Amino acid sequence: MRTRRSLLDLDDLTAEELTEVFARAGAFEASTPEKRLAGVACVNLFFEPSTRTFTSFNLAELRLGAEVVNLAPKDLSYLNKGETIEDTVITLSAMGIGVLVVRHPEEGFPASVAMNFDGHVVNAGDGTHAHPTQALLDLYTLLEEFASLRGRDIAVVGDVVHSRVARSLLAGLKRLGANVRLVGPEAFVPQHYGDGGAVVERDFDRVLPDVDAVLLLRIQRERFAGAPISDEEYIARYRLDAPRLKKLRKKAIVLHPGPYNRGIELDESVLRFPGWRYTTQVMHGVSVRMAVLDLLVNGT
Ligand code: NCD
Repeated sequence: MRTRRSLLDLDDLTAEELTEVFARAGAFEASTPEKRLAGVACVNLFFEPSTRTFTSFNLAELRLGAEVVNLAPKDLSYLNKGETIEDTVITLSAMGIGVLVVRHPEEGFPASVAMNFDGHVVNAGDGTHAHPTQALLDLYTLLEEFASLRGRDIAVVGDVVHSRVARSLLAGLKRLGANVRLVGPEAFVPQHYGDGGAVVERDFDRVLPDVDAVLLLRIQRERFAGAPISDEEYIARYRLDAPRLKKLRKKAIVLHPGPYNRGIELDESVLRFPGWRYTTQVMHGVSVRMAVLDLLVNGT
């Protein structure tokens, strides 16, 4: 039975906690953090490849003084010795593991793990469903730039339909009062996505002069079969490149959760653009994850 707070999606945090996470992330960046997770065992369990999220959770746990175990799926008895995931989780609970960070291709997998786990579960990405810590670090990066997102115009561009990053981020942008435009072809941005308050746009060039920030998404080819749009057409209509960068507002910034595909959703000119905030996002990823772990384990 679930007894401890988990972070499965952004709506697990109240408005006050959201503010608290950003404040703590800022404090962790400003000075050497205390070992606030000393004696807390954290297990990172990633069933999908990950560079940024995996490494930053590791660093976050280590910097707060936690005991860290990385459990590779190939070493799990439940995948090759007939044990169920429920029994695996019961086993980890019995060892007194405090935090389980889980990434899995199936939507809802971290939530089902949380049902049987005695500690805190953090969703590090489940299928196309949610990726709350990525949304938090994206919001933190935007807030650092704009102080408030109320009334700010943000474009989320590309394969929205297969993106857990977009799903969690949209919820956050809405909560913070931003005006969101979802930009892409019908296959990646279905018309009904406009029902939740965002505006659906097909013409990227028309949107560019009207936004404060652009968040680019990777085409998540591993999540669908076939090619709903050719690379040539996608590049022609949606790749951010030098001519499109010129259409942006003077202080506009560009974000990407990574991994980015050079030549597809962006070209090299974006990497040299003064408003390119990718490495800033990655840097904040560590402190925001420290803040989340600290909040879950130690409370407000
Ligand atoms: C994303 C993911 O895995 O959901 N990356 C990330 O965690 N920073 C986005 C992607 O795979 O395109």
